[in-house]
Amino acid sequence: MAFYNPSEDSYFLTEVLKEKIKDKKIKVLDLGTGSGIQSQTLIELGISKKNILASDINKSALQQVKKWGVNIIESNLFSKIPEKFDLVIFNPPYLPESEFDNEPDTTGGKNGDEVIVEFIKNLPNHLTISGRAFLLTSSLTPEKKWKKLAKEKGLKITKIATKKIFFEELYIWEIEVQ
Ligand SMILES: C[S@@+](CC[C@H](N)C(=O)[O-])C[C@H]1O[C@@H](n2cnc3c(N)ncnc32)[C@H](O)[C@@H]1O
Repeated sequence: MAFYNPSEDSYFLTEVLKEKIKDKKIKVLDLGTGSGIQSQTLIELGISKKNILASDINKSALQQVKKWGVNIIESNLFSKIPEKFDLVIFNPPYLPESEFDNEPDTTGGKNGDEVIVEFIKNLPNHLTISGRAFLLTSSLTPEKKWKKLAKEKGLKITKIATKKIFFEELYIWEIEVQ
């Protein structure tokens, strides 16, 4: 199975990682690693490969990242990942399914927010006390459900970046334990 080719959303997240990551001694989970572009950026920023875990449901994506010496795990969201991280990064499948697109790397379910809602459910168990997540969503992704859930879980949500692309806006959210 092919993996997600880096696209505008991927490059948007790499820009934000370069701007926001100051401490290089952190343990990071690159969830839904795809081509591994975010792991590659983390390495370029000076984060040790041994402190990066790349995960995906797509095996072929993981083989590529493994070649760079990054730790890998095949996992549906956090299902096989017991640890906590200082940073979790996730450019998830965030579009609603349509007759043109129902691929697991782009569509997050019927409404588009299903994978994100599942991610938020377990996120608090995987952040260190001062840990945070960077989550990418789109103006086409329903926001109400995942934000309500995040607040119920005691998470603080801040929109830290917006990018206008052809037919939608992309957002990056910083999510922290309050
Ligand atoms: C939009 S792509 C992003 C890929 C890469 N991180 C990037 O920024 O280009 C979403 C990735 O999430 C993976 N994915 C989808 N559902 C997942 C799940 N439930 N658990 C883990 N990974 C998932 C897909 O296989 C795909 O590689």
